[in-house]
Amino acid sequence: MSGTTAGPVRDGDLAVRVRGLRKAFGDRTVLDGVDLDIRRGEFFALLGPSGTGKTTLLRVLAGLERSDSGTVLTAPRRTTVYQEPRLVQARRVLANVTLGLPRSSRQAGRRALREVGLAGYERAWPATLSGGEAQRVALARALVRDPQVLLLDEPFAALDALTRLRMQDLVAELCARHRPAVVLVTHDVDEALRLADRVAVLRDGAFAADRVIDLPQPRDRDDPAQVEHRRSFLSHLGVAAPAAP
Ligand SMILES: Nc1ncnc2c1ncn2[C@@H]1O[C@H](COP(=O)(O)OP(=O)(O)O)[C@@H](O)[C@H]1O
Ligand SMILES: [Mg+2]
Repeated sequence: MSGTTAGPVRDGDLAVRVRGLRKAFGDRTVLDGVDLDIRRGEFFALLGPSGTGKTTLLRVLAGLERSDSGTVLTAPRRTTVYQEPRLVQARRVLANVTLGLPRSSRQAGRRALREVGLAGYERAWPATLSGGEAQRVALARALVRDPQVLLLDEPFAALDALTRLRMQDLVAELCARHRPAVVLVTHDVDEALRLADRVAVLRDGAFAADRVIDLPQPRDRDDPAQVEHRRSFLSHLGVAAPAAP
């Protein structure tokens, strides 16, 4: 009944290779022939109205959900960061970072906490952290697993605007250093254009736009090329861009 092929990607340049991916829940087809290649080290942002299947696609890439048909090949080390930090309240911060890993990973856990700016928080309890700090712990927990594919499902959506900008900078810095392939799901066109090498819109089960953003980092919001990308992606999302003042 299932025509799914899942397994490790063979092409050395690729971290993800998806062909003809279909996924339905009951009689609702959510993903309807998705094709997607993501290169190693590429930062790919995925936009789309809510309910279009972005989380479903991430779950398939994470190996948490089976597709109904198609081919899904990924590099084996995959980690997801969600909108909520999903910390275990009864464990201290360092134990959360190394959850499920051998005791020997504690040094790497400390290093990961340092990298996200939380040196000294090893013995803190999750309940004492701010939202931004908790999300940094979630990032450290991902980092310590040295992912080849980092799946980010609206990881900044619950944060206040200033914290969100700081977290975006942190993720950009960590990804530039560790070079995982990244899939960032976001509602925010500006966030996608600030961070990603490539931005796509998922709509009606497939990609409505899929574009390389060939602009230097750090990005300038007011760069005419970026303004044009913003206008075009907003229009793919069915939102009119505000007129220039
Ligand atoms: N486990 C599930 N069972 C039934 N329907 C689901 C399940 N997961 C997701 N869906 C449905 O699939 C559609 C896409 O969901 P989702 O991938 O979460 O969208 P997005 O992340 O883009 O908002 C929605 O209509 C949602 O209700
Ligand atoms: Mg979602």
